Amino acid sequence: MAKKKNATNRSRTPHSKEFLKFIASDWAENPKPLPLLHEVAPFTKARREKLAKAFAGHVIVVEASLPRIRSNDTDYRYRPSTAFTHLTGWGSQTVPGSVLVIDARKKAPKTTLYLMPTAGKDSDEFFANPAIGEFWVGQRPTLQEIEASLGIKTADIKKLEKDRKSFTKVLTEKSPKLKVFLSEMRFVKDDYEIAEMRKAVAASILGFEDIARNLKRATTVKRGERVIEGAFFARARIEGHDLGYETIAASGANACILHWTKNDGEVIDGDLILVDAGVEVDSLYTADITRTLPINGKFSKEQRFVYEAVLEAADAAFAVAKPGIKFRDVHNAAMKVIAAKVSELGLIPVSSEDALKPDNQHHRRFMVHGTSHHLGIDVHDCAQARREMYQDGILEEGMIFTIEPGLYFHKNDLKVPKNYRGIGVRIEDDVLVTKDGVENLSSALPRDPDALEAWLQKLI
Ligand code: GLY
Ligand code: MN
Ligand code: MN
Repeated sequence: MAKKKNATNRSRTPHSKEFLKFIASDWAENPKPLPLLHEVAPFTKARREKLAKAFAGHVIVVEASLPRIRSNDTDYRYRPSTAFTHLTGWGSQTVPGSVLVIDARKKAPKTTLYLMPTAGKDSDEFFANPAIGEFWVGQRPTLQEIEASLGIKTADIKKLEKDRKSFTKVLTEKSPKLKVFLSEMRFVKDDYEIAEMRKAVAASILGFEDIARNLKRATTVKRGERVIEGAFFARARIEGHDLGYETIAASGANACILHWTKNDGEVIDGDLILVDAGVEVDSLYTADITRTLPINGKFSKEQRFVYEAVLEAADAAFAVAKPGIKFRDVHNAAMKVIAAKVSELGLIPVSSEDALKPDNQHHRRFMVHGTSHHLGIDVHDCAQARREMYQDGILEEGMIFTIEPGLYFHKNDLKVPKNYRGIGVRIEDDVLVTKDGVENLSSALPRDPDALEAWLQKLI
């Protein structure tokens, strides 16, 4: 827990004996039936069993993490670690500082979830601790409630220090071998994860609708991009826990800055706005979607050409994605189209075939990022996986990743004809690998330019 150094400067809590007695008295119990076993429980059990089997003989310690200090005595919104979330299924309500221990030294592994239960009304914490006290931040769950809901044996975090003394052959999230395994075990999503990803995508689509509704207003203020960012954020908080990552609301030439999160630019009628945003739902799965929208609802000729080029690249990636191919082949399919399109515009000094050769790659000037990344609890999921399992890995049913080609013509790029300068387009969808192809999880958000214009006409 973050140490609240200046608490004494601000604290006016009385500490007289009389007060302590008075505040501890006459609180009605709040009897609640124990929660039912959460639907995630059988899935997380299977994940923990897989982990225990792979690291038999070890004690595996996975921490939820502590809150991070933003400044002085103010923390960022709490978000537990990805590995902890994956193995417990706890999500946004996780008590900060909780620790999962899987003791796999015996044949039947023993799993314990250590957490800080809510303090008694007779404790100082109850009313005098702004960081964790019930009067300040609300009640924490009891050990019994968490045990009933997650189906994991619980213990008071105070016990961990003593228990730790008996641990041997300990592996933590920092151990390279465990780190890689935890990442790679998330490649293929189970049914619970797929359902949560569908929820994250659905919530994000509502957020994009809110963006469309706010486009006009965005053109009326100096920092119109913030209107767009704010509209999506409000939806993320209403539907889910948070954003999965900082929203990119990049109007006009800002769209060419790949991680434009300043979002302090103007939104101008006649320009495009590229919005890359995702809602993280309470289970902490996130979507990652980009749409590039004509601010006034209609593409210009040049904007449409670039948009259609990117869409064609995305469709080429969709067409090859299926179990058995290499992850990197999805990118290669998109790059073939990107190279052909920039060649058609006369932007590269060689043929598109020559540009595609590993020693050339001229077309990448206009799209320096990759086409795909795995997606799940982390927006860039499975990031610690080995290269041979990720970029060179083989697609399997149940994997979820993005397809997100783009073309970015910077406003000062002298290789680009003047009428194309300052146009940046990315189209990003989230796909699930099926038996014989992929399902576009975000297909309910229009991506075809005519459909996108029609959708905007309805909402603007
Ligand atoms: N929003 C980050 C990405 O698309 O990878
Ligand atoms: Mn992405
Ligand atoms: Mn994105």
